[in-house]
Amino acid sequence: MNTGNLLHTPDGVRDIYGQEYTNKTNVEEQIHRVFSDHLYRDIKTPTLEYFDVFSSEIGTTSSRDLYKFYDNEGNTLVLRPDFTPSIARCAAKYFLEGNQGPLRLCYHGNTFANTSSLQGKLKEVTQMGVELMNDDSVSSDAEMIALSIEVLKAAGMRKFKICLGNAEFFRGLCRQIGISGAEELTLRDYISVKNVYGAENYMAEHGIPEEDRKLILSVTEFFGDHSVLDEALKIAKDRGAIEAVERLRELSEELLAKDLQKYVSFDLGLLSKYNYYTGVIFKGYTYGIGNAVITGGRYDRLLSFFGKDAPAIGFAIVIDDLLDALKMQENGRAKEDKKYLTFALGKGRLANKTMELFESLGITCEEMKDKDTRKLIFVNEEYKLKFFLSKGPDVPTYVEYGAADIGVVGKDTIVEEDRHVFEVLDLGFGKCRMCVCGPESARELLSHKQRIRVATKYPKIAKDYFYDQKHQTVDIIKLNGSVELGPIVELSDVIVDIVETGSTLRENGLEILEEIMPLSARVIVNPVAMQMESDHIKEIISKIKSKL
Ligand code: PRP
Repeated sequence: MNTGNLLHTPDGVRDIYGQEYTNKTNVEEQIHRVFSDHLYRDIKTPTLEYFDVFSSEIGTTSSRDLYKFYDNEGNTLVLRPDFTPSIARCAAKYFLEGNQGPLRLCYHGNTFANTSSLQGKLKEVTQMGVELMNDDSVSSDAEMIALSIEVLKAAGMRKFKICLGNAEFFRGLCRQIGISGAEELTLRDYISVKNVYGAENYMAEHGIPEEDRKLILSVTEFFGDHSVLDEALKIAKDRGAIEAVERLRELSEELLAKDLQKYVSFDLGLLSKYNYYTGVIFKGYTYGIGNAVITGGRYDRLLSFFGKDAPAIGFAIVIDDLLDALKMQENGRAKEDKKYLTFALGKGRLANKTMELFESLGITCEEMKDKDTRKLIFVNEEYKLKFFLSKGPDVPTYVEYGAADIGVVGKDTIVEEDRHVFEVLDLGFGKCRMCVCGPESARELLSHKQRIRVATKYPKIAKDYFYDQKHQTVDIIKLNGSVELGPIVELSDVIVDIVETGSTLRENGLEILEEIMPLSARVIVNPVAMQMESDHIKEIISKIKSKL
């Protein structure tokens, strides 16, 4: 018998056994002990919930990332992607009657995300977390931060940082300049990944005055120690934005009194993908994995969706990520005491241009100029920088996983690869355009909604453009190069490709039919490195900025 899939698990889920199982159970027990010591009561909610509990009004995971099913009665059910809305539903139903005091609940279970495959991401992870309801005091914020620190220590984590922001600061600034609704949400997405240029273009296209654009973009620079709070107060006029910063100041004082200030930093551009957060939000970062191990925040309006008005704050730890980070740190592979910043550069013209830029800043790397070298990593001791070259599409992958702290790559690759990285600078070189091209005769195919064939090296960009912007259903054919051949040999009607000088098109009798987006080289940064190495990264980025 051919066992085929019988021996395998689907992409993104896995068996856990042996030592890993023991390690996982031990860490879970340590964390649970901390929760119990602080009188958090256990609660278990079902793996399946009604879709409504995670709907877009609640502001949780986007619908396309949910595993959805129908039951026999035609109700849409989901595998929970997150615990907080479930706990809020449960608390509203069973606990929040009358004028009781603070309610402390803790949970432990698996969550599910129907994300794309081949990104090395788990689709089922174990989460543990707490929710503190019916208490809107600064002390309850401080209790959450203190608890998250205690939990990380109990799990054996030595070096980490809890980064604090306040969702109301950005909301307040948007109010200050008169932005709301969909515009605010789109801008939040840009700012949350520090994509200054995306935000700038979006605001310019929407007629937002330059002064207001500057105000919004300044949010991405307010990160570091508590002095950024003073800077933020200088630009805030909206009552909510001012109160958001003041709340963080009070919290900072409480943490100082608990001698915990050394574990925290601030980032007013820290925004969550979950729209239900209303106040203080925080993330815990450590070496060894590319993203936050702890995420949490205040969600004072969420319970009202379930019929109860009660303030609340909570956090969740992804146990699988925590174990990965601990393993990397134990193996000494995590750059715990790191001195170097590592750059990943896309091979070819971009890498050469980037090194020219660095040279003009006095940062040289002689070894890299040797064309015959087979070395993969190059070092500049003076500035404590390391460089390596990789294929362009791999640059965002190295940066997302933290294998490189910083990357230089084309905007086309960033959009196509869709990795969780911060996009902090437009280097202004490598300028070109992503276009729909083809023979002039194909132009009319784009004005009807008929099904056409599109050949491209960029299937994601092509799909997003045709489906989401043009609302035209197309067949996308992935090619790996010389895409212009597509219409010439009648493999496809049109292509989606990069146009730089336009000579490849001209020499092959093809035209630009529609423009999708302008492209150029960008600097991307790993979100953990941005917090853990903020001074070194700020120094390098501002050096580059000064030259641009
Ligand atoms: C890129 C792009 C176009 C060409 C555009 O190809 O895919 O084919 O450059 O440049 P132009 O407008 O200046 O003519 P690349 O050279 O990277 O090779 P590939 O087609 O094999 O991917």
